[in-house]
Amino acid sequence: MVVHRRRGWEIAEREATPEAAFWNRRAVMAGGAALLAATPALAQRVVPPVGPAQTGPTVAHPFPLNQAFVDPGRPLTGEDIATTYNNFYEFGSHKQISRAAQRLTIQPWEVVIDGMVEAPLKLDAADLERRLPREERVLRFRCVEAWAMTVPFSGYPLAALVALAKPTSGAKYVRMETFQRPSEAPGHRQFWYPWPYVEGLTMAEATNELTFIATGAYGKPIPRQMGAPLRLVTPWKYGFKSIKSIVKFTFTDQRPKTFWEVAGPTEYGFWANVNPQVPHPRWSQATERLLGNDERVPTRLFNGYGEWVAGLYQDMPSAERLFM
Ligand code: MTE
Repeated sequence: MVVHRRRGWEIAEREATPEAAFWNRRAVMAGGAALLAATPALAQRVVPPVGPAQTGPTVAHPFPLNQAFVDPGRPLTGEDIATTYNNFYEFGSHKQISRAAQRLTIQPWEVVIDGMVEAPLKLDAADLERRLPREERVLRFRCVEAWAMTVPFSGYPLAALVALAKPTSGAKYVRMETFQRPSEAPGHRQFWYPWPYVEGLTMAEATNELTFIATGAYGKPIPRQMGAPLRLVTPWKYGFKSIKSIVKFTFTDQRPKTFWEVAGPTEYGFWANVNPQVPHPRWSQATERLLGNDERVPTRLFNGYGEWVAGLYQDMPSAERLFM
């Protein structure tokens, strides 16, 4: 039986996704419910792929919808907006990089999993995806620049990749790294940035149910400008944590120095949890602008995902730094 729990951040049905939105939520939910009824394993949220495993442009979408992340409580952002308003400094330090990003070669795409693991792995992104349980999620996404989107992503929980990697007991963090190819990405010739783009999570964050590796968006393989062929999505953190086009996952006992921490240590930190009470030096974080209709809405602690992640930080000192 499908039980849809109403979350604190949910709004009334009539205020949610307009009919014109790309994603027909009713159809999605009906599809999800049917899948759930047909496949008992889906009730446990670790969702096996349905049908034959496929990758690349022929990926079968949508995958089963994770019922925990079915209703974002706000309208979906149009695909045309989410795919043309992007931050991807490898292709330029402005939002209109979608055309430039098409120069990125994404097949083949080798992913390295190394560091404190039982045995290092090197495999193609498509093979990796085939080995992990894929699903669909609709997630709110909040940039520190105070704009927000809501995107239907597909992919797999990062926890599933961690399980495949088999980290040793000493591993405390996962360090993630983006490709570095000056021949394809002009940003890499901007020597003042500390390339390659690096991000990191604690093991508890990496294995949290909410932490997602997106390989698709809007029912299609994720486009290059959004981080093809695989990118992180940590929806309770500011968008810069969601590293794109990952080539390496390294398990380590050292806290990684992240790209933005190195580039601007007075403005960016490791944790970057969304908090409306803690302003960034250049942007108030009290409200956010929804891309698409430009509505300003109040920002919520942990972007409204506290139910999943607040417990990760409750015993940590220096609360202020948690929100940088
Ligand atoms: N990942 C890489 N490799 N390079 C980047 O410049 N920008 C980050 C993040 N991931 C970035 C990145 C920032 S600042 C944001 S807000 C999000 O990607 C934007 O994701 P989107 O373009 O899909 O909305």
